[in-house]
Amino acid sequence: MKQNTITCLIIKIGILCFGFNHITANTSPQKDLLNPKELRVEYLENPKGITTTKPRFSWILEGEGRNRSQIAYQILVATSQKKLDQDDGDVWDSGIVKSNVTNQVEFAGSDLLSKASYFWKVKVWDEKKQDSEWSPTAYFSMGLLNFSDWKGLFISHYVGYDNTDKYDSLYLPPARYLRKSFTLKKKIKRATAHTTALGLYELHLNGKKINDAYFLPGWTDYNKRVYYQTFDITDQLKQGENVIGAIIGDGWYSGYIGYALLVRLDKVREFYGVNPSFMGQIEIEYEDGTFETIASDTSWKSNQGAIREADILMGETYDARLELTGWDTPGYNDSDWKSPKVYTYPDGKLEAHPGTLVKSRERLKPIEITEPKPGTYVFNLGKNFAGIAELKVQGPKGTKVQLRFGEILKRDGNIQTENLRLARATDTYILKGEGLEIWQPKFTYHGFQYVEVTGYPGKPTLDAITGIVLSSIETDASTFQSSDQMNNVLFKNIKTTQSANFFEVPTDCPQRDERLGWTGDAQTYMRSATYNADVAAFMTKFLIDLNDSQRWYGAYPNFAPFPYSRPDQYAPAWMDAGIIIPYNMYKVYNDIRILDYMYEGMEKFMQFQKDASTDYLRPGGGNNWGDWLAVNEETSHDFIGAAYYGYDAKLMAEMAEALNKKEDAKKYGKLFENIKKAFSEKYILENGQTTEDTQTTYALALYFNLYPEGLEKEGADRLAEKIKNNGYKFSSGFLGTKHVMLALSKYGYDDLAYKLFKQTEYPSWGYSVENGSTSIWERWNSYTKDDTVNSDLNAKMNSFSHYAFGSVAEWMFLYAAGIDTEDSGYRNIIIKPAVSKEMDFISASYKSINGTITSSWKWKGKKLIINVSIPTNTSAKIYLPSADLNNVKMNGKKIANEKVKTTSQEQTKTSVVETGSGDYIFEISN
Ligand code: BGC
Repeated sequence: MKQNTITCLIIKIGILCFGFNHITANTSPQKDLLNPKELRVEYLENPKGITTTKPRFSWILEGEGRNRSQIAYQILVATSQKKLDQDDGDVWDSGIVKSNVTNQVEFAGSDLLSKASYFWKVKVWDEKKQDSEWSPTAYFSMGLLNFSDWKGLFISHYVGYDNTDKYDSLYLPPARYLRKSFTLKKKIKRATAHTTALGLYELHLNGKKINDAYFLPGWTDYNKRVYYQTFDITDQLKQGENVIGAIIGDGWYSGYIGYALLVRLDKVREFYGVNPSFMGQIEIEYEDGTFETIASDTSWKSNQGAIREADILMGETYDARLELTGWDTPGYNDSDWKSPKVYTYPDGKLEAHPGTLVKSRERLKPIEITEPKPGTYVFNLGKNFAGIAELKVQGPKGTKVQLRFGEILKRDGNIQTENLRLARATDTYILKGEGLEIWQPKFTYHGFQYVEVTGYPGKPTLDAITGIVLSSIETDASTFQSSDQMNNVLFKNIKTTQSANFFEVPTDCPQRDERLGWTGDAQTYMRSATYNADVAAFMTKFLIDLNDSQRWYGAYPNFAPFPYSRPDQYAPAWMDAGIIIPYNMYKVYNDIRILDYMYEGMEKFMQFQKDASTDYLRPGGGNNWGDWLAVNEETSHDFIGAAYYGYDAKLMAEMAEALNKKEDAKKYGKLFENIKKAFSEKYILENGQTTEDTQTTYALALYFNLYPEGLEKEGADRLAEKIKNNGYKFSSGFLGTKHVMLALSKYGYDDLAYKLFKQTEYPSWGYSVENGSTSIWERWNSYTKDDTVNSDLNAKMNSFSHYAFGSVAEWMFLYAAGIDTEDSGYRNIIIKPAVSKEMDFISASYKSINGTITSSWKWKGKKLIINVSIPTNTSAKIYLPSADLNNVKMNGKKIANEKVKTTSQEQTKTSVVETGSGDYIFEISN
C-alpha cells in the first residue's frame, strides 16, 4: 500500500493542485457527500492502551446513490481534541492520499508515546472530488511501551499452599483480595489504570467494579506473554481518600484446564504457576502538570473473603457471611488484613490484549421452572449458551443454594451432567440472610440451557435465575433467511454456538472438561466465523496463541494455547490451522500484517511437512482423528494428510504473493503442482473415482483442486451419485462435511447441496433442529427425542455446543446467497447466488470490512428476482443465471439501457453484470 507523504503545508496547496472542490466548514452538508463512519484502530473501537506502535486505521463509508467511491482520504491524529478541532494533526497529518483504501491504513506519523492518548478523524473525497465532512472524533491511547514504565510487583494473598498433585480430591483455593488506600491532594486531570494478573482478576475502585469485561487479563502462554488492560479511571477518582482493590482467581494460570484430570496427566492444574497474583499501577496526571503513580507493592493489604472456591471448570462457591463489606471503599478498617506475598515476575512479555474481551452479550429470562424432585427446581433458559446464572434469593443466614448446569434434560426431568465429565460445574451460594441477595460468580462459566437449583429457601419464582450470556464476540455481522424454516433455525443455532465458543479462544465446547482452542475445529469453521461476526481482532489474538504454541519442530499443536499434551502433539487437518486461519484473515480482512507475523512459522511448518513426506505425499502421522465423527465411512489419515498438504501449498503460494515474496510464491506454486501430481497418482483412479471412494475423499480432493485436469467432472459426478445412493445424507465428519457442500456447488450440483441442506433425517443438520436443538451438536446424533440418557452414545463425549458442523455457514453465504470476494477484503465483490428450485427464496446480508453486502433471490412464478446491495467504494460482479440478456431487467428497465458492463456465457448459461455501489434489482425470465 503506497502512501502519499505530503507535508501539512503542501496539503493545503495540494487541495488546489488536485483541483478538488474544497467544501468549507460553512457550507451546509450536502446530501450526496460520502460519510466516513465506524472508525477503528487495530480493528477496535476507541481502544485504550494499545502496544502496537504502527496501528492500522479503518473506516466504513456511507453514500447515497450508485457508483460511489472514495478517490482520496486524509487522516489527522492529534494530541488533543482541541488541536484536532482546529484541524491540527500534530502527530500525523497524512495529507491528501489519493487512494480508495479505507482499511489497513498504517499510521505513519511521529512516534507514538508510551501512555499518551490520541484523537483522530478522517475525511474522504468522492468520485466527484467533493470532500466529505470530517468524521466524528475517534480515540486511541497507548499502553506502557517500555519495561521501565512498569512500577508494580506481582502480589497476592498467601493462602498457605504451594503445590499439589492430587487426582482424587479437588483443590479449590479461595479467591485472593488486595486493597490499597491512598490519598490524592490535588485536582486530577486524568487517571489511568494499567493492570494484569497471572490468573484472573477483577479491578475495583472506590466500591465499584471497573469495566464490564470478564476473565481478564485473558489466556496466553504466560511464559511468553501476559496481556494487560488499560482503563480510563479519571471519573472514578476523587480528591481525598481513594481505594483500589483487586480480586484474583486461579483461572487458566493455576486452575484446572481441559481434560488433564480426566486422563490423569502428571499435572492436572497449575500449568503456568502455583499461586495467582496481580500487578498494576494507576497513573495520575494533575491539573498542575505533575504526575503520581500508585503501583502494586508490599504497602498493599491482602486477605481472603467470601469467594471460597473459583475455578473455570469446577465452579464457584460464595459464602456471603464472609463478605468483606466495604473492602474496596474508603474508610474501611483493614487492620486485620495481611501484607501481600510478592511473586516472581513472569517470563512473558507484557502486552495489550489484542482481541475482544469476554462480555455479557444478553440477559435471558427463564421460560419455565419444573420440579422433577421435591425441592429440586430446574430453570429452562430457552437456549444452550455459555455464561453464568445470576441468582436472586432471600432467606435465613447460612442457607446453602446450589446451582448445577446441564445442556439437556433426562427423561425424568433432571439435568444431564454425564457429558460434563470431570467439570464439576457447580456454583454454591451461602446466604448472609439480610434481605434480597443477588449474586453472580466471577471466575467460572458454564455451557448450559438448564439450571438446577437446590436448597432454595421456599419456592423460587422465574426471576430467581437470570442467564448471562458471555462471549468475546457479537454475532451481528450477518442475517440469513430462507423459505425453509428449519434452515432458519439452523442459522440461529450456528450463531448461538459460535457465540458460546468464541470465548477468549475459539473453544471446541463450553461445558465439559475441555474448552480448549482445538485447532481442527477452528480452521474448519474459520470462514463461517467471519460471516457471522467481526472476528478480526479475536482471531488475531488466537493466531498469536497459535504462533506461540508452535512446536519446536514446526508442527502447530492440537490446541492453542498449549499448556499440556499427550504423547502426540499434532494431527493432520488440526495443525493446518496455522496456514488456513491466516489465509482467511488475509482473504476476508485483507490483513497482510498477520501474514507477515505468521510467515516464519508457516515456512517452518511447510518444512516440517516436507521432511515428513515421501515423494510429496504427507502421511497421516501424529495424533489421528481423521475425518472426526464421520458416520459409516472412513477416510484414511494418509489421504487427509496428503490433501491438506496440497491445500497448504496452494494457500502459501497466494500468501507469499500477497507479501510480495515472488520467489516463494513460485516455490509454493511448484510444490502444489508436485503434490497434486503425486496425490492424483496415488489416490485418483483413471475413471475419476478416488481409491477410497468416500464422500470426504471427493469433497477434499475437488475443493482443494487436487484432481488431475479433465477428471474433475467424473469426481463430482461420483460424489453426487454417492450422496443420492446414501438417501441425500452425509457420511462425513468434521473435515468432510462442509467440503461436500462446497464441492457440490463448485461443480454445479446446487440442487443436491440444497437437498442435503434441507435434509432432516439422520445424519443431517435438520435432524438436530427437528429434535428441538437450539445449538450445533458435536455429533450428528447427539440426542434424539426418544433417547433416555443417550443410551446408545458415549454420553461422556457428547457436547451439544460444538461449532464444527456449523461450518455449513460458509456454504450458506458463499454459495446459497453467493457473497464472496474476488480480491482480498471485499473491495471487488462477487455475487453469485446458487439459485435452485429447491428453495423459494434466500435472503442474506453480510457486513464486510467495507460495509454491508446483501444478496437475495426469490421465485415469482417463473420469474427470478435477485436483489443486491453493494456497499459504497466497492464494485461487484453479479452473476445472473441467464445467458440471454434480453431476458434480464435491471431496476425495471432493459439492461441494455443501463450503463453497466455485461458479458454472457452460453456454455454456463450465465451473464455477468459489473457494477459499482448501490442497490440493484434484477428480474430474469428464462
Ligand atoms: C474435541 C474436538 C477436537 C477433538 C480432537 C475433542 O475432544 O472436543 O472438537 O477437535 O477432541 O479429535
